Amino acid sequence: MTAAGTTANGALSFPPGFTWGTATAAYQIEGAADADGRGLSIWDTFSRMPGKIRRGDTGDVACDAYHRYPEDIALMSALGLQAYRFSISWPRIQPGGSGLVNQRGLDYYRALLDELAANGIDAAVTLYHWDLPQELQDRGGWAVRSTAERFADYARLVAEQLGDRVSRWITLNEPQVSADHGYRTGEHAPGLRDNVIAVQATHNLLLAHGLSAQALRSVTPHTPVGITLDMHPVRIAAGTQPGIVEAARLATDAELNGLFLDPLLYGRYPLHARAALVPGPELIADGDFATIRQPLDFLGINYYSPVFLRAGNPDDLRRNEEPARCELPGVVEYRPAELERTPMGWLVDPEGLYDLLVQVSDAAPGLPLYITENGCAAEDYVDPDGDVKDVERVSYLHQHLDAAARAIKAGVNLAGYYVWSLLDNFEWGWGYQRRFGIVYVDFETQRRIPKASARFYSEIVRANAVPPYSEVDA
Ligand code: FCB
Repeated sequence: MTAAGTTANGALSFPPGFTWGTATAAYQIEGAADADGRGLSIWDTFSRMPGKIRRGDTGDVACDAYHRYPEDIALMSALGLQAYRFSISWPRIQPGGSGLVNQRGLDYYRALLDELAANGIDAAVTLYHWDLPQELQDRGGWAVRSTAERFADYARLVAEQLGDRVSRWITLNEPQVSADHGYRTGEHAPGLRDNVIAVQATHNLLLAHGLSAQALRSVTPHTPVGITLDMHPVRIAAGTQPGIVEAARLATDAELNGLFLDPLLYGRYPLHARAALVPGPELIADGDFATIRQPLDFLGINYYSPVFLRAGNPDDLRRNEEPARCELPGVVEYRPAELERTPMGWLVDPEGLYDLLVQVSDAAPGLPLYITENGCAAEDYVDPDGDVKDVERVSYLHQHLDAAARAIKAGVNLAGYYVWSLLDNFEWGWGYQRRFGIVYVDFETQRRIPKASARFYSEIVRANAVPPYSEVDA
């Protein structure tokens, strides 16, 4: 069981050995889109479709991390960071998603892993952060089961070639977003808008997790294997009796969280989710749930913001209300006016993180949890002193780390935290119009400038403790 306490100066301390890192993803930072035999991914295709990405931005150059990784690792090292979560681009390893292996892609990641090791930084490797090889999409993408099998082949290959240098495997990043944004709403690659396909993708992504976990374990049996889910605490707005919206809370939680968490933990789809979202028996082969429910060594949680519910009329919406996605009568989703919002429009709610950690910990007692992403966009700019004083991000991180420390104190087995993100980068549909880094990137020159939040985070990492939020800022 982990332990956290209070230090002599009142700071909330994290347990010894707590992992501190930052996170990135291949398509968002690497650039070098046609270097060294890389194949096309669905994001290369999607970002070229008119109107899909702000200002027509693409990941062609991004942060040019493919060439600049030594500088980025030196920055992490100077900040005292111990861990780096990055993703491997499948089309760099297998340009067509199956068969042919691109040695130069493997060489690149081997060099990156060696550089991390030389700096004493542990590698948490995500195998899939949304950049499906385009050739596999042309054959159906996540709508077809064979993609899950190809993913397991790729996972095995990566484990065989690079596994000796990896501290922790994360099979998939946010499969809920892959299925929903990629295939249902179309706001992400491949940009399809078809619920039937999104439901197929839901099941095949889960299957891909299970099959790849088996493959990874067969090659690197001692390396922890987990998955990263985007999780959304469902909270009840002040003034609404919880009982009135309880059915909606269960349904919303099932849809946003349970659809992926329940098969992983319990080997079944959640009871309360809308039927239209749940894979039916025609998609589920014998043994699928046993495959999906591989023992997890840890669970990665990405937390940004919650969903609030309150009693209301979806046909007569009030300010800050939206129809509830669960479609139950008498309830609406609501954005409390008193909570801040980031430039993404996302509510800032550290208590949501606390509640979420306690909820997941209750659902999976003792399972090590990692916050594999947390952070915020801000309107960052370089001031006349050449500095980026991102006070909003300092405050956001401070509040969320305070919540994380309190959750540990309450018994949650939280083992590490990765800020999203090390660098400003290609923020999917927003292109370069949203900055999430603790390091500023001047995309004209590729100059990196650590922001105030990088200095703040570095102090916390070195102290392994966070000053209580209220004492400093109340
Ligand atoms: C998450 C993604 C990550 C980044 C952040 C802001 O959903 O995993 O790549 O875009 O949001």
